[in-house]
Amino acid sequence: MIKNTNNKYGLVSIILHWLMGILFIAEIVIVLYKKNATTYGTEINSFLMKSHFVIGIILLFLIVIRLIWTFINKKPKSLSSSRFINFLSRVVHYGLYIIMIVMPFSGYMGTGADINLGLFTVPRFYNTGIFDIFIVNMMGMSWESFEPIMDNIHKKYFPPIVMLLIILHVMGVVYHSVIKRDGTLKRMITYK
Ligand code: HEM
Ligand code: HEM
Repeated sequence: MIKNTNNKYGLVSIILHWLMGILFIAEIVIVLYKKNATTYGTEINSFLMKSHFVIGIILLFLIVIRLIWTFINKKPKSLSSSRFINFLSRVVHYGLYIIMIVMPFSGYMGTGADINLGLFTVPRFYNTGIFDIFIVNMMGMSWESFEPIMDNIHKKYFPPIVMLLIILHVMGVVYHSVIKRDGTLKRMITYK
C-alpha cells in the first residue's frame, strides 16, 4: 500500500524513512571524517565539504516532502501496551523530526556558499530576498550577527542532541525487535 494504515507504514513513508535515514547518518559521518581525518585545502577535504553541502540540501528538500506526507497520513498505532514506552517513542519521533528540520536549515542559512546541484544552483542564504526581507529588514540583523547564531545551532548545540536521539531511536528499535519481537522493524520494511 502506498499510504500508511492504522497498523503499518506505506511504501512512500518507508522509502522516505530509509532514504533520509541513510543520508542523514552519511551526512554526519562525512563531516566528522572531513574534520578529524583530512587537512584543510586538500582535494579530499573540499570534496567531502561539497558532499556535505549537497546531501544537506537534498535532505532539506526531502524533509519538506516528508512533513507534508506525514501530515496527510495516519500514524500507525504503537505496538507496545506500555504507556511509558509509547510516550518515549513519541518524544523521540518528534525530536527526530525537529533535528531533520533544524540541521539542514541551520547548515544552509549559516553557510556563505552557493550550492551547485547540477540542474540548478541554490544561492547562498545572504544573497536571497528572504534574508533581506526577514533577517535584515524585519529583524534588523546583519550577516555578521546572524551567521554565528546559525553556526552555534548547527555545530555546537544540536550535534549532541542529534547523537542522543539517534542512539535512543536505534536502541528502541533493537528493544522492540530483539527483546519484544513485536514486528516493529518489519512494518518499516514491508508494505503489503
Ligand atoms: C541534515 C543535514 C545536516 C546534518 C545532519 C549536518 C550535520 C553536521 C555536523 C554533525 C557537523 C559537525 C559539527 C562539528 O563538530 O563541528 C556539521 C558541520 C558543518 N555543516 Fe552540516 N549538517 C547538515 C546540513 C548542512 C548543510 C545543508 C550545510 C550547508 C549548505 C552544512 C554546512 C556545514 C558546515 C559549513 C559545517 C562546518 C564544517 C567544518 O567546520 O569542518 N550542513 N554539520
Ligand atoms: C539504523 C538506523 C535506523 C533504524 C534501524 C530505524 C528503524 C525505524 C523503525 C523500525 C521505525 C518504525 C517505528 C514504529 O513502528 O513505531 C522507525 C521510525 C522512525 N524513524 Fe527510524 N530508523 C533508523 C534511523 C533513523 C534516522 C537516522 C532518523 C532521522 C534522523 C529516523 C527517523 C524516524 C522517524 C521520524 C520515525 C517515525 C516514523 C515516521 O514518521 O517516519 N530513523 N525507524
